[in-house]
Amino acid sequence: MTSKTKVVTVRLTDEQYTFFNDWQKKLQAQTGIEVPMGAVIRRALEGFMHFASSQNRQESPDLREAQDRLQASKEYVTEYNQKMRSDKMTIDNAEYKKGFAEHYEEGRPVWDIGKPQAPFIEIADRIKGPILDVGCGSGSVAVFFAEKGNTVTGIDLVDKAIERARAKAAAKGLNVSFQVKDAFTLIESDWRFPSIIDSGLFHVFARDLERQRLYVEALAHVIEPGGTLYLLAAKDQPEGSIALSGYSHDELVDAFSEGWKFESIKEFMAEVTPEIAEKHPDVEWSTWFAVIKRRV
Ligand SMILES: C[S@@+](CC[C@H](N)C(=O)[O-])C[C@H]1O[C@@H](n2cnc3c(N)ncnc32)[C@H](O)[C@@H]1O
Repeated sequence: MTSKTKVVTVRLTDEQYTFFNDWQKKLQAQTGIEVPMGAVIRRALEGFMHFASSQNRQESPDLREAQDRLQASKEYVTEYNQKMRSDKMTIDNAEYKKGFAEHYEEGRPVWDIGKPQAPFIEIADRIKGPILDVGCGSGSVAVFFAEKGNTVTGIDLVDKAIERARAKAAAKGLNVSFQVKDAFTLIESDWRFPSIIDSGLFHVFARDLERQRLYVEALAHVIEPGGTLYLLAAKDQPEGSIALSGYSHDELVDAFSEGWKFESIKEFMAEVTPEIAEKHPDVEWSTWFAVIKRRV
């Protein structure tokens, strides 16, 4: 066999197409890269050649070439995945860390109402641990769920937030694992959780599609198949509103379109700290609360 490539058109029956299509999806899920249909069919042929050759119990040049090609494609996929992984980790959140740290240095941040927002309280009994609270801030939500008997881990980018969260749990005699950790590093983690809470982190990336993608991938990595994400994120705001502008309904749904299923999504008015409420009595803090399941 020469190394020259021949392009041929093949006509598949519906049954063959379904077979190759399923296989293509499986390969894509395993490798995390787009696998063209032609490559799937080529692999099937190589497998067949291998099988035929082993049946004949003879080493054929065709088989050697097929094996070389398989080896080369395996190396390519490994390298590609390593590159993707290191690209993911180059995301630099130093500016975010600095910005959020300033909020905590100044005292009580504007979002810190000292308890979970109402939708979390409404469905609290449905949320089962172990729970990961991503961007847990000063820990009020994590502590609330730990008080209900759940095992809870809370992570935040800012040291001061985690210091406060630890103090809050200690004051109540609760054992909550609070760690300073960048949510994007979850893509490398061995952790797995049936329930994840995000109360106000995802909306930080509302204008940053790349961060949205990487963040959602990181969550997908640590959530168990069939697990549930409880997400609170600001809604997009009308022109001129001083409320934090987040996502339109469609933007939110699009961000979780691969491998997730929305169980519910509703709009509600978020509570703000008394100081902010007094300062801006007419502002509507419209917010999304979504329950999103990871497909099995
Ligand atoms: C709007 S606050 C919400 C805090 C908390 N969930 C609450 O409900 O009070 C967003 C939090 O996300 C944290 N944060 C921002 N970027 C992060 C990242 N890359 N990884 C982890 N936490 C992050 C911030 O430090 C901040 O505490």
